[in-house]
Amino acid sequence: MSNSTVDASKRTWLIASSCAGAVGAGFVAVPFVSSFQPSERAKAAGAAVEVDISALQPGEKMTVEWRGKPVWILKRTPAQIAELPKIDSQLADPKSERKAYPIPDYANNETRSIKPDLLVVVGICSHLGCSPTDKLTPGPQPSLPDDWHGGFLCPCHGSTFDLAGRVYKNKPAPDNLEVPPHMYLSDTRLLIGEDKKA
Ligand code: FES
Repeated sequence: MSNSTVDASKRTWLIASSCAGAVGAGFVAVPFVSSFQPSERAKAAGAAVEVDISALQPGEKMTVEWRGKPVWILKRTPAQIAELPKIDSQLADPKSERKAYPIPDYANNETRSIKPDLLVVVGICSHLGCSPTDKLTPGPQPSLPDDWHGGFLCPCHGSTFDLAGRVYKNKPAPDNLEVPPHMYLSDTRLLIGEDKKA
């Protein structure tokens, strides 16, 4: 988990909803990767974004921008993967059966991912569009239950998500975090926005 502070001026999606006032200083995340392949114009038009994930270590998360949205890439540890099935009963849609954000077939599984360790999701809360905060460390901590398994907390209205981006029950957010189209070009290169070969 990074302690880097995001440049708030770049995070326009944070102020797109009524929750802006509640965002405050609680945001910590890895800064955007700035070495994307497409030009700025192409990105604005929705071009796919190629990402080098070779430096991502187990337990770390990086954030890249695709179509103006933050996309999180989380490399889960074996222990984090093992926790996922244990909390299904606490989740609103553990099998991603709701259709608000149809999940790609290749991510329609327990880990919601192509590779079990690598989660790729759009980091925007399905309630009113805030970007949740990393709460990757399990255990008791402010605003979270004592049996917290690690995941993400939306500071706007308290929705919580597990390490597969699945929303907990009885929270304002109605749906799991969106899995964007994506595919692996190699073991170290990920393409976000296209999945033709997936
Ligand atoms: S925007 Fe309301 S809980 Fe996330």
